[in-house]
Amino acid sequence: MSELEAKVYIVGAGPGDPDLITVKGERILRSADVVLYTDSLVSEELIARARPDTCVMKSAGMALEEIVEEMVVHVRQGKSVARIHTGDPAVYGAIFEQLSLLKKESIPYEIVPGVSSVFASAAVLGAELTIPELTQTLILTRAEGRTPVPEKEKLRSLAAHHTTIALFLSATLTKKVVRELLDAGWSEETPVAVVQRATWPDQKILRSTLCSLDEDMRKAGIRSHAMILAGWALDEKLADRAEDYRSKLYDKTFTHGYRKGVPAQ
Ligand SMILES: C[S@@+](CC[C@H](N)C(=O)[O-])C[C@H]1O[C@@H](n2cnc3c(N)ncnc32)[C@H](O)[C@@H]1O
Repeated sequence: MSELEAKVYIVGAGPGDPDLITVKGERILRSADVVLYTDSLVSEELIARARPDTCVMKSAGMALEEIVEEMVVHVRQGKSVARIHTGDPAVYGAIFEQLSLLKKESIPYEIVPGVSSVFASAAVLGAELTIPELTQTLILTRAEGRTPVPEKEKLRSLAAHHTTIALFLSATLTKKVVRELLDAGWSEETPVAVVQRATWPDQKILRSTLCSLDEDMRKAGIRSHAMILAGWALDEKLADRAEDYRSKLYDKTFTHGYRKGVPAQ
């Protein structure tokens, strides 16, 4: 990448493992004049890749206005600012409020995506979240806690679709999660996988079912920083019936733009 511009680069750091930032994101981090990062969720080892003379600031203790003020002041001085967010900035990253204030101040910005914790969690579980013939939809959502969820997006109504559901920010709300999914007609045996601090050295994985989730989470002491993935795509026994869930893409009888299928015998 050539010289950075005087603007704000909103960069996804990935889920924790410092090597899961994108190549572009790392190049920006390594060259930026100013680095502002969410210290509770971004690895110090990653931030250590910034230039030794970079002004590095932690944002967890700052209010929105202070964060934006730092960005505005530095960009107006002709500096590049890397604003490092956990996972992918577009998912529960609270970037909308920062971007709208930057826009108001006519400060240019660019967003560099990152690996979201939902995909890092699926990876460490060895799971595909959209399995042919089983579910082709993934819902990313959260249980309602102190932050309200719009009426039409209550977990119970989303769950009526029986898709895979990924729950962010819900580790302390498992009783509610279980109740809503059961009310939506999910069976008590539905597989649920929880990954706490996916890709960090102290990562924890919990395999459970809807009826045992709350107790299993309590026993495992998982109360924060966890991704809850629920649905039959998380069934570890699915591999025993793998031939029932094959995609068309690699089906030898299926013709598509890159391959002519052979007729079925
Ligand atoms: C404020 S949100 C940020 C999400 C982030 N933008 C992303 O794409 O992963 C924080 C929530 O994301 C999830 N999360 C973030 N990092 C995680 C990780 N390494 N392992 C498991 N869950 C994680 C947890 O549900 C946590 O409560």
